Amino acid sequence: MPLIAEPSSSTSDQSVALITGASEGFGRELTRQIAADGFDLVLVARNEARLNELARDLESTFGIRALVRPTDLADGEAQRQLAAEVQRIEGLAVLVNNAAVSQVDLFHDIPVDTIQRIVALNIGAVSVLSRAAFNNQDFCHGGILLNVSSIGGSMPLPLDSICSATKAAIDHLSAAIAFEAKKNPHMHVHVQLAKLGGIRSDWSDRSMGVLKPGETMSKTFQTFVNEPEDAAVAIWKKTKLRKKLMVADRWDATVWRYVFSLFPRLLMPWVYGNNSSERSRRVGI
Ligand SMILES: NC(=O)c1ccc[n+]([C@@H]2O[C@H](COP(=O)([O-])OP(=O)(O)OC[C@H]3O[C@@H](n4cnc5c(N)ncnc54)[C@H](OP(=O)(O)O)[C@@H]3O)[C@@H](O)[C@H]2O)c1
Repeated sequence: MPLIAEPSSSTSDQSVALITGASEGFGRELTRQIAADGFDLVLVARNEARLNELARDLESTFGIRALVRPTDLADGEAQRQLAAEVQRIEGLAVLVNNAAVSQVDLFHDIPVDTIQRIVALNIGAVSVLSRAAFNNQDFCHGGILLNVSSIGGSMPLPLDSICSATKAAIDHLSAAIAFEAKKNPHMHVHVQLAKLGGIRSDWSDRSMGVLKPGETMSKTFQTFVNEPEDAAVAIWKKTKLRKKLMVADRWDATVWRYVFSLFPRLLMPWVYGNNSSERSRRVGI
């Protein structure tokens, strides 16, 4: 049975999960958890080789089927094409909007192209794909939408302005459409929001450009990051039980989150305060 159905056909047998940003970090671990529960998968990211490698691994380990959809989700046309597929996926049960990037820098120094790509990926793709899922008949009969946000959506992060702004937008989008879904008697969709704290992925150098070669994350940051696997296990466990919107952190990270909300200036030297970093020097931390 094909994962992508013809527009006219549908089935109540929900068994397919689509995950964006499945090739690395948190998304990769979450994908493994979902596969372990027997879902067939559609894996989305740009790096086709990594997606293929993961797909073969999960197929042989868990006996599921995995399709790869190499897609640049910062591209508007690519978003539309994938959305058209999402709308037609037979048995779509889970959509995870996880792919995101950032650029850590002074706001006025971030190139316009970069700002446009971050916004397009982090909130544009999330909105377009969520809408597509809401228009998938099978998904409306019990689907789960999991949007991956950040504690940065709850507190403005200097030097990470664009990403934290897009995460705040995801929080609002998720809350608004969760309300709409709840009020609609024909829509049985559970909207879940995972607001991650620090995750020990390559995010810090790959996506944020925080570190230069040879630099390491500040020791303080390292102590309150979560392992991607631990975070994925915790989040998937709550998500599949349809527990309410949540923040997923280790308890000490939660404490730090409250400390930083009360004293936001502490955050800059603690998280980004690598003394050798040129950016740190420029902003005086
Ligand atoms: N790491 C943290 O400390 C942290 C903290 C709070 C929240 N989060 C959130 O957690 C989520 C996962 O973060 P992570 O640390 O696991 O990130 P990561 O390791 O950098 O992985 C990002 C994933 O997104 C994909 N991706 C990047 N650009 C893309 C594009 N244009 N189109 C399609 N896919 C793209 C990447 O694959 P390709 O490069 O192959 O496309 C990769 O699979 C993100 O939403 C992030 O905001 C992370």
